[in-house]
Amino acid sequence: MDQSKKSEFVVVANRLPVDRVTDEDGEATWRRSPGGLVTAIVPVMQRREGAWVGWQGSPDEDLEPFEAEGMTLSPVRLSGSDVELYYEGFSNATLWPLYHDVIARPVYRRSLWEAYERVNRRFAEAAADVAAEGAVVWVQDYQLQLVPKMLRELRPDLRIGFFLHIPFPPMELFQQLPWRREILEGLLGADLVGFQSRDGASNFVRLSRRFCDLKTQGHEVILDDRTVQADHFPISVDAQELITLSTQEDVKARAAEIREELGNPASILLGVDRLDYTKGIQQRLQAFTELFEDGRVKSGDAVFVQVATPSRERVEEYRILRDEIELQVGRANGMYAELGAPIINYMHTSHTRKELTALYLAADVMVVTPLRDGMNLVAKEYVACHGDLKGALLLSEFAGAANELHRAFLVNPYDIGGTKQRMYEAMHASPAERARRMRSMRRRVIEHDVDLWAKEFLEALENRR
Ligand code: ADP
Ligand code: F6P
Repeated sequence: MDQSKKSEFVVVANRLPVDRVTDEDGEATWRRSPGGLVTAIVPVMQRREGAWVGWQGSPDEDLEPFEAEGMTLSPVRLSGSDVELYYEGFSNATLWPLYHDVIARPVYRRSLWEAYERVNRRFAEAAADVAAEGAVVWVQDYQLQLVPKMLRELRPDLRIGFFLHIPFPPMELFQQLPWRREILEGLLGADLVGFQSRDGASNFVRLSRRFCDLKTQGHEVILDDRTVQADHFPISVDAQELITLSTQEDVKARAAEIREELGNPASILLGVDRLDYTKGIQQRLQAFTELFEDGRVKSGDAVFVQVATPSRERVEEYRILRDEIELQVGRANGMYAELGAPIINYMHTSHTRKELTALYLAADVMVVTPLRDGMNLVAKEYVACHGDLKGALLLSEFAGAANELHRAFLVNPYDIGGTKQRMYEAMHASPAERARRMRSMRRRVIEHDVDLWAKEFLEALENRR
């Protein structure tokens, strides 16, 4: 690549922030890609000049670098078989369940691992190609854990950071992985490895000692010629953007319209997730339905809106989950809905930021009940939007966000009885209690926003020089 086009700051992530989709007329367009990583990195990239290296979401397409939403995007090509073996396979059928408490059974297959290695090398080469001499390269998430080492071999001049957006498992789980040493060595190619939680960082240090026979000191892993720092940097949202959006008149009007469309019930409960088995969607819907079963809530008192973005639909566990949820929603409505008034409104779709914000504003209780989640940005988005101090947040103890949002209504989502009780309490909390809790959570989200997260990570990386 031409030297003048090389970048001083490069983000490498499995996905670009936009997916290429073909509309009904056969026309190709770009659509914002799903997930917390994109939500967090987009504002960071828009405020810094840099290049984003990633896959554009569909197989077998060769694309030249292009500009979108104020960012320079450098596509990496994945073939159909790369998507199947590296993305759906090793990333989402092996690592994803392993790193989320083995909620689903991880698949350990050598052909998947070989694809993971091969595709990680391609990402490393693409990053090496766009990075200027001495540039900072920030590698993102579990799909690319081998990239730091491969990139260092290609370009020892670079400053390499890595951030894991999902939990990093403890020894007892991680040791199942047949390629555990290779993954650790891959990460140790970075100068700084960032995790969502303190536990993630200490698991990594402990595992490096155990499986790579390395010495460690506090947060540092000591190699022959350098040290690697492991630390926690809890990710966040663009609070100011959400405040601006949630105070716009048209968004507020849309929120009122949503309440109206739902029949103005006393409580609107809301879930917003990728359709993923880690999110505890079934548990929350069960808890809600049981409130009707117990006769504590009646049709007209409360409505649940569940928005579930389609995700990883070719992975078997996700297909099964979708069928189960749709069955569950159908049953609950069949039992307790009245004519024209379902108790659960389920939408298997993604929404614009504006519509999502209106939904957040309309909701009296935001229900975030993952069985395990690195952070969960939806919880923080809801809090950022409620400058009116009116909402209540029901939050799983197993979401990273619970380490910061102590004043949420905390639940153990495995405990359906306990979740049901807390849900009922959140629905009936007084305005004063809601305001007290919301004020404290908002302080945290506004002070620790995504800019601070990026600044702290990048300064720590800079200090490694
Ligand atoms: P994950 O990274 O596992 O998907 P997070 O909660 O951290 O989970 O981030 C999800 C992001 O995707 C949030 O920014 C949220 O607003 C967005 N999102 C989730 N569901 C939808 C949806 N149905 N439509 C649009 N955006 C969505
Ligand atoms: O933050 C978790 C994460 O897996 C991101 O790495 C990813 O971009 C996002 O969720 C959405 O998942 P996917 O890219 O598989 O659709």
